[in-house]
Amino acid sequence: MRHAPIDSKLFVENRERLKKLLPPKSIAILNANDIPPTNADGSLMMPPNSDLFYLTGIEQEESILLLAPDAFDPKHREILFLREPNEHLKIWEGYKHSKDDAKKISGITQIKWLSEFPVLFRQIMCEQEHVWLNSNEHKRAVVEVESRDARFARECQAKYPLHSYHRLARLMHQIRVVKTDAEIALLQHAVDITAKGFDRLLKFVKPGVTEYEVEAELIHEFVRNRAKFAYNPIIAGGANACTLHYNQNDQPCKKGELLLLDVAASYANYNADLTRTIPVSGRFTRRQKAVYNAVLRVMRACIKGATVGKFHRDWQKESQLMMNDELLALGLITKADIKKQTEDELACRKYFMHGLGHPLGLDVHDVGFNTEPFAAGWVLTVEPGIYIPKEGFAVRLENDIVVTSKGPVDLMANTPVEVDEIEDLMNR
Ligand code: GLY
Ligand code: MN
Ligand code: MN
Repeated sequence: MRHAPIDSKLFVENRERLKKLLPPKSIAILNANDIPPTNADGSLMMPPNSDLFYLTGIEQEESILLLAPDAFDPKHREILFLREPNEHLKIWEGYKHSKDDAKKISGITQIKWLSEFPVLFRQIMCEQEHVWLNSNEHKRAVVEVESRDARFARECQAKYPLHSYHRLARLMHQIRVVKTDAEIALLQHAVDITAKGFDRLLKFVKPGVTEYEVEAELIHEFVRNRAKFAYNPIIAGGANACTLHYNQNDQPCKKGELLLLDVAASYANYNADLTRTIPVSGRFTRRQKAVYNAVLRVMRACIKGATVGKFHRDWQKESQLMMNDELLALGLITKADIKKQTEDELACRKYFMHGLGHPLGLDVHDVGFNTEPFAAGWVLTVEPGIYIPKEGFAVRLENDIVVTSKGPVDLMANTPVEVDEIEDLMNR
């Protein structure tokens, strides 16, 4: 694992939070992700299963966590099953966790090899009544490939059809959406590495550099800080920025154009999510500056507006009403457009067509609820934008914030965002 060790207290406490939600006679099982195949005998790096990591700190393939807080034998209440290291694995794949290492990482005392799983699992299943199995319940997920958790759920229900089965995801979302101080510190670290990358870009970008050279600068900065890209970076010059999910990143940055950068680091599986829009030549034109400041005002106001008790729907509506005013002042929409807008399709949607923000954490579009009001400890992105294909540019800004009982805390407060700051840093 590339990141510095994390105090196992985080994972111990996370398991306690889950156990509090489990009714008596429960057993919960979580599986690692599969290693994603490519072509022929190729594969990609395995993204750790976020829920398994959250409860154990373990990132190794094939691992299984079993929780049964009421098991008769105290040694059966919390068990982590791992691949057993051997000479062959050592030669071909290198390091695998020893029992001692896994204990140190997770704080779990009962570490077993996978070969022991079937017998122990049967014993514990026969004692328990409620079985909590994990699944991907992200509302926007497109699930076409069966995960290890899904395979396990299918096989487990076939083998033990008379237990009462439950969705663990509901409970995982409930605890994961509220970040603890230790998690916020890790998110802040990802944000700080992201800021270093952005600082490097402010010195690097000039007419003639290509979008992929900008990407290369960033990955250099992230990897040397023990991090990686949190998501495929969007590095979009000029009109490319009007494609919301542009990530070809293969064009030259041209004099006079803006460059939209939706780029961030992931550290210890915790993700930052930053967007900045900078002038390739180091100075904004008057028009670019006007659009930029409109977006900045909306972002600032929406950061302030992210308060405990607010519903996402109302927060988003506030941003759209502000955006209507800004677009009117910029001459992009008219009073008549506003007059004929509908409740579901406000006039601003023509230029600001995506959501205002999303929960952030172990996943970039993290688990959370739009059916519940914001609560202290929620981490959200705030990312308004204006996209103007007919003028060949777009501006989006995105900061990451924590909702607290004392008001929002901006994790990106130190990442340059004012026009003057950006211009000064680019021309230094
Ligand atoms: N970078 C992905 C997003 O902003 O949601
Ligand atoms: Mn983003
Ligand atoms: Mn985002």
